Amino acid sequence: MLSMKLDTDWDVDTKARAEGVAACFRERFGGEPELWARAPGRVDLMGSHTDYNLGFVLTLPISRDTWFAARRRDDGIVRLHTMNLGATDEFKLKDIRPIAESRWCNYVRGVAATLQDAGLVLKGCDAVIHSTVPVEAGLSSSAALECALATVFEGLGDWSMTPERKALLCQKAENEFVGVKCGILDQYSSCLGRAGCALLLDCRDLSTRRVQIDEGIRVVICNTMSQRRLSRGEYMQRRSECEQGAALLGVTTLREVTADMLTARRRELPEPASRRCEFIVAENARAVSLAEVLTTGDRPAVGRLCAESFEGARNLYEICSTAMVAMMDAMLAAPGVIGARQAGAGFGGCMVAFVDAERTDAFRTGVLSAYQRATQLVPEVYVVEAANGAAVFGREEI
Ligand code: GLA
Repeated sequence: MLSMKLDTDWDVDTKARAEGVAACFRERFGGEPELWARAPGRVDLMGSHTDYNLGFVLTLPISRDTWFAARRRDDGIVRLHTMNLGATDEFKLKDIRPIAESRWCNYVRGVAATLQDAGLVLKGCDAVIHSTVPVEAGLSSSAALECALATVFEGLGDWSMTPERKALLCQKAENEFVGVKCGILDQYSSCLGRAGCALLLDCRDLSTRRVQIDEGIRVVICNTMSQRRLSRGEYMQRRSECEQGAALLGVTTLREVTADMLTARRRELPEPASRRCEFIVAENARAVSLAEVLTTGDRPAVGRLCAESFEGARNLYEICSTAMVAMMDAMLAAPGVIGARQAGAGFGGCMVAFVDAERTDAFRTGVLSAYQRATQLVPEVYVVEAANGAAVFGREEI
């Protein structure tokens, strides 16, 4: 019963969640877990598709996260049970292969294989997984899964690694083992988060700067609850159009292109590469600008930057679905809104709004009714906090 509740109730309190996870562990594996690890999802506040162009992203690791409750095994076997999917995977550390039928299994197998390939010695384990990051919604549920598992192996092994290295290895697992050519945004966010601040990530030198958001402004995620259909193929297409643009401009990545350079040479680019480049160059600048104005609390500037970002995502990068347009309308019409835009890769999934801290309840109510009226879909709205990056934790801390 408890696990059924946990599967559907994302807002469950952490004590009940820990009890539910421990009960599931007992039921599945007998006895108690010896190690707990968590890693957050993320929402990008500005910087859509800039990461693989080695640009800037302003990202917020969020309070929705993935937990592992684990216990070591000495026989080199890994057994994992996810409460969200009600599914189990089992594999031997000395013979890890991908399996065609299940994506989540490949994420976890990929992390184990990639850590071992990097020379790290892994212990087998039994573990129960529970996540409050909605799956396939653009909030990096896969990175949270990967980074939490890497943290489990780190906690059970006799070694440790920097959060940066952990993020890069998890990205490698996703790129090479799972075959999803994502950038570094998701894993960096999940590993380097700091409670209380957003991160301005420079995807070229992989440095991060902490960004304090003015305390009167809250980040609210609005889930369109619409499928991100075709997103994988579209994602790869956007990537190659950007690469094509960069090659024609004679640079390695679009990070090297300034707005002036693009204006002068735009005629050299075919469509749609030209539109894609225009979006990325402007989006990079917006990520840096938003970091400034969120800190100073310049609300009109926050609203303007978000509106420009959404307009570019819709008309230049073409990653907006009709559900996203309806959600944008609902967010902009809701009380307390300061700014709103797309999030993640686009094509449905979640969007993000900046909302007056005193009016988040009214904002939520407004979005729920307006979006449902317009689309007949029931959205979800999450008010989130900035969270720490992947780490082990003690049950007593909860
Ligand atoms: C997905 C990818 C990220 C990033 C975003 C778009 O979430 O995993 O690497 O490219 O899309 O910004």
